[in-house]
Amino acid sequence: MMSDRLSLFPRGTAINSDGQLTLGGHRATDLSRQFGTPLYVYDVATIRSQIATYRRGLAAYPGPSRLAYASKAFLCTALARLMTAEGVGLDVASAGEIFIARQGGADPVRLHLHSNNKTRLDLETALDTGVGRIVVDNTTELALLAELAAGRQQPVNIWLRITPDVAVETHHRYTVTGTAGSKFGFPPAEAEVVAATLAGANGRSPLRLAGLHVHLGSHFHDPTPVVRAIERLLDLALSLRERYRWELPELCPGGGWGVRYHPDDPPMPVEPFVAEVVKAVVSGCRRRGLSLPELALEPGRSLVAQAGLALYTVGSRKVSAGERTFVSIDGGLADNPRPALYQARYTALLANRAAETGTETVAVAGPYCESGDILIEAVDLPVARAGDILAVPVTGAYQLSMSSNYNAARRPAVVFIEDGFVRLVQRRETFEDLVARDL
Ligand code: LLP
Repeated sequence: MMSDRLSLFPRGTAINSDGQLTLGGHRATDLSRQFGTPLYVYDVATIRSQIATYRRGLAAYPGPSRLAYASKAFLCTALARLMTAEGVGLDVASAGEIFIARQGGADPVRLHLHSNNKTRLDLETALDTGVGRIVVDNTTELALLAELAAGRQQPVNIWLRITPDVAVETHHRYTVTGTAGSKFGFPPAEAEVVAATLAGANGRSPLRLAGLHVHLGSHFHDPTPVVRAIERLLDLALSLRERYRWELPELCPGGGWGVRYHPDDPPMPVEPFVAEVVKAVVSGCRRRGLSLPELALEPGRSLVAQAGLALYTVGSRKVSAGERTFVSIDGGLADNPRPALYQARYTALLANRAAETGTETVAVAGPYCESGDILIEAVDLPVARAGDILAVPVTGAYQLSMSSNYNAARRPAVVFIEDGFVRLVQRRETFEDLVARDL
């Protein structure tokens, strides 16, 4: 059980002879003392290794390929810098994410701009910054972009986001995006008309149709629907070639591959997913006589989730009237809304007593004024005492990026650990930060 639990933790996690959880050789308790809790720790080697795994998978693709990190999973300047140093582009979803990406030195050409309702500011920022690909979601946006692009020297490269009406199992309906009725992308019939207009005008319009895009959902673990979606995009590419001699330059089947959060979850290795995608594009193109497009993947969660570890300090332990035992910690809903939003399941252990086995099943509660602020519904722990440090693994994606200041919580500090060195990359918010915008 214990080794199973550590298998969810970042690389370089161990339990030392004193029963202390260590990360890159540093005791979790020392990190907590130095930086305070809640604390988010990222193991950089785990991120680099996930990137390498994607790269190895893409190396099997006989055409060109590129990797972009879906920065909505977690973005700060240090992470943008890391991805840029690794040669990974960024999927950004707002002018704000463009700003952070640029602060981290990202090459604008390697940015893809998403969103189902890009504002004029988002689009102008993208054009002024030279964002490499704008992923057009709807006709209103297309018209606005055409207007904004009209006076520019360079053609603007766009992808069309298509909603292929393919379902994926993601554990929650909020994270499904590719079915009919989704707010994202063009429905297939509309996509055909728009793509035909753009393909027909290629070379004579300020907008250049550079590729087709789908993103079916997030946190799925069966690649079959992605294969089906790729088939639909290739059908569209074939009909555009027949009618307009338009060759598909780039194809992006999005991101969305899941991760293991809990010991009960099955393993979700990245390799078979990338292999299936590569196979689907190669065989799909061969069957249709299409030349191979550049294949772009944009994973978020699977690059960073397991690299992240959250550390909290235990406060009270309470047995409620219903015989349920609550262990309360100093974070929860404000830094991790995923359990409340998606009933996401996590596990945990006591970092300062990591060798002890669990003797009671408890619910881990945050301090915020919501009954839904339960970070973990049930986990086996030794009887927790005030001051113990609770370590929650697989907390690197969609937590800090969706965090809030509810109850005037100050957003946590973030440290990176690499080669045994600890680096504070984002300080904890201060009380002054809480009123910094007030006039
Ligand atoms: N590409 C697009 C266009 C996306 O919208 C997303 C995620 C991704 C790629 C990356 O998906 P990933 O590889 O990270 O699954 N807050 C939810 C997840 C929302 C995902 C939004 N889009 C959660 O915490 O589960």
